[in-house]
Amino acid sequence: MSDPTNTARRTVLTAGAAALAGGALTACGGDGEKKPASESAAAPTAAAPPSQPDTSQATASQPAGAGKAIAKTADVPVGGGTVLKEEKLVVTQPKAGSFRCFTAVCTHQGCLVNKVENGTIDCPCHGSKFEATDGAVAKGPATRPLAEKKITVAADGSISLA
Ligand code: FES
Repeated sequence: MSDPTNTARRTVLTAGAAALAGGALTACGGDGEKKPASESAAAPTAAAPPSQPDTSQATASQPAGAGKAIAKTADVPVGGGTVLKEEKLVVTQPKAGSFRCFTAVCTHQGCLVNKVENGTIDCPCHGSKFEATDGAVAKGPATRPLAEKKITVAADGSISLA
């Protein structure tokens, strides 16, 4: 639920690769040599006490005063869209330069939609499809549209909730 950023995920992958390489090199040691844990890059900053909820500290630059950046325009294909699983949102770009955002929670039984294809936002559970332009039901069993979320698109291409 409180899954951190893509950066953290990349860090874990990188650390995993380093551990693999390191393990191959040190496999014959055996004299009590201890390899230091290699995930220090993901450690929290010293300034943040662990008991306090972390309200900031994402190192990616975000426009001051805007809502939380959820995606970049370059990540959203024209005529398609991007599902943001962690945010439970889907951002579409039905026409070049026109971005829409909807909840990714299917109105049928609450699965997360998983792709935007051929102009529709598709739910994998029972096959419901929603229009990428306005979230309306294109194919059941869902009967209600996906709720739209207001977004703003900054000059640098960041898409944020309004
Ligand atoms: Fe999406 Fe059933 S939950 S189609």
